[in-house]
Amino acid sequence: MESFPKVEMQNLVQRASTLMEALPYIRKFYGKVFVIKYGGNAMVDEKLKESFAKDIIMMRYIGMIPIVVHGGGPQIGRVLEKMGIESKFHQGIRITDETTMDVVEMVLVGNVNKQIVSMINQHGGRAIGLSGKDGHMMQAKKIPTEKVSKGTNANEIIDWGRVGQVTQINTGVLELLEKDNFIPVVAPVGVSDSGEALNINADLVAGALASALKAEKLILLTDIEGVKDASGKLISELGLEEAKGLIKKDVIQGGMIPKVQCCLDSLEGGVQSAHIIDGRVQHAVLLEIFTDKGVGTVVRK
Ligand SMILES: Nc1ncnc2c1ncn2[C@@H]1O[C@H](COP(=O)(O)OP(=O)(O)OP(=O)(O)O)[C@@H](O)[C@H]1O
Ligand SMILES: [Mg+2]
Repeated sequence: MESFPKVEMQNLVQRASTLMEALPYIRKFYGKVFVIKYGGNAMVDEKLKESFAKDIIMMRYIGMIPIVVHGGGPQIGRVLEKMGIESKFHQGIRITDETTMDVVEMVLVGNVNKQIVSMINQHGGRAIGLSGKDGHMMQAKKIPTEKVSKGTNANEIIDWGRVGQVTQINTGVLELLEKDNFIPVVAPVGVSDSGEALNINADLVAGALASALKAEKLILLTDIEGVKDASGKLISELGLEEAKGLIKKDVIQGGMIPKVQCCLDSLEGGVQSAHIIDGRVQHAVLLEIFTDKGVGTVVRK
């Protein structure tokens, strides 16, 4: 038998031990649901897109049940800009009038969703795209108008338009897909009782799905290391009281507000753990799932 040079053998053994490190996690997470929100840079950069797709496929092959929910803020913004329609946000949520809703549905369901489905399928997975309308999976209602209580626009009345909040998740279609080893890719568009489309922040959709499915983990990929404190330092573990305080003090702002909020809600709803991680890191999802330390911020009750 031809023997390996010593260094090469050491490398091989090292590789085997890296693989073995994943064993307890594979055992623990077999058959468990993972809801993963895909957004920010990870959805733009080609290398990151590929590494994300491969992570999801790998999870499915080793018996985990990943469910992908995607955002698409920048993509919607670009199309609106081309159409000469201004994007308006309040507390990180897009104010959605009728025309904007048409664009949101077109871009998210017609374009972004299909791109992700195609990318997963291209790399050997079996993905199917859904919005809340499909199989009546996600019912929603409009969020009420709101009076702004702080800042320079205090007392302004905010009409969110066609922005929704999830009222019910019907898991039937997801269970059906799971039986046949499909990976669901969910666009964050809900359906109202009267059948109209409602725009829902993707983080909140991921949180609602994770609660409805009693997921093992809710993982939110974003374009930053995780949640940061007032001095800009990464917070590895964030508790309920601290989170509330940081939102109140405006340290947690914009798009990070629904993210932290949905982590807290999902934990309340029976999800085992909730994570906000850096989608700019290749294989961020696998690192989160298969290492003790994880990456980014873990939110605790
Ligand atoms: N305390 C904070 N720590 C970290 N990021 C914060 C904080 N407060 C506000 N942010 C902002 O939140 C942003 C992340 O939310 P954002 O909605 O922009 O991205 P996303 O949800 O990952 O993507 P998308 O909305 O397109 O799906 C960060 O880029 C950062 O600018
Ligand atoms: Mg966001």
